[in-house]
Amino acid sequence: MSKWQELESKYFMHTVDRVPVTIVRGEGARVWDDSGREYLDFVAGWAVNSLGHCHPVVAQAVAEQARTLIQTSNQFYTIPQIQLAELLVQNSCLDKVFLGNSGAEANEGAVKLARRYGERNLNGAYEVISATGSFHGRTLSMVAATGQAKHQQPYYPLPAGFVNVGFNDIEAIKAATTDKTCAVMLEPIQGEGGVNLPDDNYLKMVKEWCDRKGMLLILDEIQTGIGRTGTLFACEQYGVEPDIMTLAKGLGSGVPIGAFMAKDKASVFVPGEHGSTFGGNPLTCAAAYATLKFMLDNDIAGKVREVGQYFKNRLEGLKQKYPSITEVRGRGLLLAVEFDSDIGGALLNACLENGLLVNRIRPNALRFMPPLIIGNDEVDEATGILDKVLASVV
Ligand SMILES: Cc1ncc(COP(=O)(O)O)c(C=O)c1O
Repeated sequence: MSKWQELESKYFMHTVDRVPVTIVRGEGARVWDDSGREYLDFVAGWAVNSLGHCHPVVAQAVAEQARTLIQTSNQFYTIPQIQLAELLVQNSCLDKVFLGNSGAEANEGAVKLARRYGERNLNGAYEVISATGSFHGRTLSMVAATGQAKHQQPYYPLPAGFVNVGFNDIEAIKAATTDKTCAVMLEPIQGEGGVNLPDDNYLKMVKEWCDRKGMLLILDEIQTGIGRTGTLFACEQYGVEPDIMTLAKGLGSGVPIGAFMAKDKASVFVPGEHGSTFGGNPLTCAAAYATLKFMLDNDIAGKVREVGQYFKNRLEGLKQKYPSITEVRGRGLLLAVEFDSDIGGALLNACLENGLLVNRIRPNALRFMPPLIIGNDEVDEATGILDKVLASVV
């Protein structure tokens, strides 16, 4: 155990079983540990470092903003947050933005907004239907929205007002809808739940149902948004416009920021009903603006489509070679490989030894969410390592 790992076990709450690597530096799709060892990073801070580590455009924006203005209260106008809001609105189907600090906080705000909408327009309806296998964050309400027993059971009783139904099952949503339902909340593709894709028409059917009932559709694009799946937002690929959409992760390319956006009709907060001390902070907004502007100017989402397809083809090639691979799934640069037995941990360790960071999303599955700026060369390198470790592990 290194000095840092020893100190961590002494001082830090044990909420995660860490991989025994202490990362001290990053550049592009690579990181280095405290012994100088280099790794190709296909985890990217859990789908966060969208432009890679320490992208010059982001580093420059942060440095300049840090010398200019870091924080004021939201009682005052600040320019970076307004510029970011304008860019988000101009490039999405939503009309208004609220800025916060994390994904869970963005989702909390989205649910508050939906309840406010229900209170005004749906006779006080407050319930939110979400999906089993979903992941919406770690706050108590988002644990209730997250349809996974392992996240819920330690925290009973959970806040009221959440109903979990099967993912990709429109009839289950219909059956769970009552006069108390104000919204349906879904990830377009479930990320933490295992990279689970719905049928192509599922989200459209959910939106039609919401419209029929006057309810709102909240899409959690915290993992799928900001280019990750090959369009700026995954909902574009499913032909659906949500009433509310949440963002975080890749938005700041590593700088913590969250956002929820809404159509005008759903933007029902009035002053005093929602807020955040740090939300919309000039420093984080400068990073997010630089990230988003770079992505749009350089068609990063288009490049993700190409390199993502190349990566998927390479993984399909491994599937042909290794019968223990049962499925390759995902879109863009959010991909997973599933195996016929629980070899995820062994593969993760073998990848690590060979200089590749991956995520074991389930005991029998690996998830890949590299920076969005990788090219085919990095895909070749990663799949070459996977090929080597599969030959030794399976
Ligand atoms: C789809 C989705 N929603 C919400 C969250 C929670 O985000 P945060 O950890 O920033 O609170 C995550 C995190 O993994 C996520 O993947």
